[in-house]
Amino acid sequence: MNGSTGFEQYVTMEEYLKGRRCIITGSSGTIGKIFATFIASRGGIPILVDVVPQEETEEAVASYGGEYSAHRVDLSDVAQIKSFYAEIAERYDGLDLLINNAGLLSEVKLLDMTEDNWDRVLNVNAKGAAFMSQGAVGLMQHGSDDRQIINIVSLAALVGGLYVGAPYVCSKAALLGLSRNYTVQAGKEFGIRVNSISPVIVSGQMISNTPREAIDGVKNLMKVWNQEVPPVHLLYVFEMLCRTPSMTGKNIVLDGGILLE
Ligand SMILES: NC(=O)c1ccc[n+]([C@@H]2O[C@H](COP(=O)([O-])OP(=O)(O)OC[C@H]3O[C@@H](n4cnc5c(N)ncnc54)[C@H](O)[C@@H]3O)[C@@H](O)[C@H]2O)c1
Repeated sequence: MNGSTGFEQYVTMEEYLKGRRCIITGSSGTIGKIFATFIASRGGIPILVDVVPQEETEEAVASYGGEYSAHRVDLSDVAQIKSFYAEIAERYDGLDLLINNAGLLSEVKLLDMTEDNWDRVLNVNAKGAAFMSQGAVGLMQHGSDDRQIINIVSLAALVGGLYVGAPYVCSKAALLGLSRNYTVQAGKEFGIRVNSISPVIVSGQMISNTPREAIDGVKNLMKVWNQEVPPVHLLYVFEMLCRTPSMTGKNIVLDGGILLE
């Protein structure tokens, strides 16, 4: 064949992830575990962060035989985030990817909400992500050609929450605001991309105590799909974000068409 097709620039996930140092927060949970395992399976270096033990994720990641590390960090405590990054700087000398995935759900009703409900959720979902991102940007200055932050937001941030409480909705709206602010600040000055993924209900442990009627109510609002989103759909979006370095400042919504944009 004569001339270029442009297809020569096509990048596989193995090529993209090979040797990339990737922090995944909430790596013990449903979505964190699938991200961490996928990254390990494609030759990346998962750096696992959770406040609970994460043997299952470690086992899954270790089965690929590559490098990884696991860290116990309470993301609501900025001092713990700072000492985590001191350790990471020493060990990895740079960073390529951060997935802010850790999160706490709140289904508290308006009149029942307490200060503690509010603080617990906002401290992890919003403050934790803000300081994790700050630390990441510092380290990403010693990173690869394409460095990115991906925030796992929620459809709740856009629709006010179909059954969830104010602390969760506000924490996710804050995370969306953070994505936009860091897109500008980390993009212009440091060349770092920031995008977010906003799924509706994802099957897994987070919704295990959610009443069936609430979940069915959400499914009925979908134009297509009409089911919980399987975690693998987030991986497909992840692939797109990795392979498309011209994408930044975007919020990719997985909601079966509830929201019309
Ligand atoms: N499951 C859903 O329906 C759904 C829908 C939209 C968005 N999301 C978002 O996706 C992300 C992952 O959700 P999931 O379904 O995997 O939930 P999950 O409950 O399985 O995982 C969340 C993880 O975050 C960790 N975490 C909680 N507090 C922490 C803290 N203080 N420090 C460190 N880690 C902490 C938990 O230990 C847990 O492993 C969350 O941010 C969630 O809000 C989930």
